[in-house]
Amino acid sequence: MTASARTANRKPAVPASARAAVTDRVKLVVGDTRDALRDIDDGTFHCCVTSPPYWGLRDYGYEGQIGAEATIDAYVQSLVEVFRDVRRVLREDGTLWLNIGDAYTSGNRTWRDTDKKNPARAMTYRPPTPKGLKPKDLIGLPWRIAFALQADGWFLRSDIVWYKPNCQPESVKDRPTQAHEYLFLLTKSQDYYYDAAAIRETTKDGRGSRNRRSVWEVSTEPYAGAHFAVFPRSLVRPCILAGSPRDGLVLDPFFGSGTVGAVCLEVGRQCVGIELKAEYADLARERLRNVLDGATERALASRGRAALR
Ligand SMILES: C[S@@+](CC[C@H](N)C(=O)[O-])C[C@H]1O[C@@H](n2cnc3c(N)ncnc32)[C@H](O)[C@@H]1O
Repeated sequence: MTASARTANRKPAVPASARAAVTDRVKLVVGDTRDALRDIDDGTFHCCVTSPPYWGLRDYGYEGQIGAEATIDAYVQSLVEVFRDVRRVLREDGTLWLNIGDAYTSGNRTWRDTDKKNPARAMTYRPPTPKGLKPKDLIGLPWRIAFALQADGWFLRSDIVWYKPNCQPESVKDRPTQAHEYLFLLTKSQDYYYDAAAIRETTKDGRGSRNRRSVWEVSTEPYAGAHFAVFPRSLVRPCILAGSPRDGLVLDPFFGSGTVGAVCLEVGRQCVGIELKAEYADLARERLRNVLDGATERALASRGRAALR
């Protein structure tokens, strides 16, 4: 079979009925999430699935960007404030699925040189070793954030370990290579929408199914479209399936390349994404258009690479 015949035979990822409605089903707001959230009514979304900018990791080139705070406490406070507004725009039975990785203190290095393979990792600064921590300390960012959100009123319901079998190799010899990140399930109320049946997992012997466990093995999916912190669709899919009914409304306040929007289109949900960087918003728009056209992510990734050259 030729490649074009294969393409012709491939079932589009999104039913034709949804194609015309792309702008109705996925809305993209370009701007600071702190401003954009203010314009959204209380109780709008079934769930929020997101991965915020990490602390001290990437320079998005914006004054006042989240993640460039001088201290960990200031960073955690920025996130608490964003997610307080996210809680407001969630329905009473809404859930927040928050992906966040950890980091090590910089050992008092104050800048990071350009990484040719990964230009977004070049920083114009590195935060100094935080007070109370030592060089080489693991910061424990995910749990600091989770506890701060809990203290702010969220119900902390689950810590899901995202195990990455294809994690980045590290040159360290004095600790294990980090192969996981966290995904926290936080809720607005004690009782909430959670479709356990939609995300049951297969038992080890392959003969039955069981309630989803809290360790998810998901390979990273590099997306070459100029964005380097893209989370894999297989990580996002269970969150959306468990957190929203068909045609439900999902929020990602840090949209990046639009992974949450792409999965929403694939599984028949609606989505609002907010992204600060116009360049990433363009990328997300193109990605969503391509999902509607049934293009594969692999094809999209290579087109992203081409666009970068
Ligand atoms: C970790 S990335 C999210 C990647 C996304 N999950 C994906 O799969 O592509 C964080 C994103 O938040 C955006 N961002 C940073 N500060 C923001 C702000 N104040 N308002 C909206 N977006 C912001 C960054 O430009 C970046 O695209």
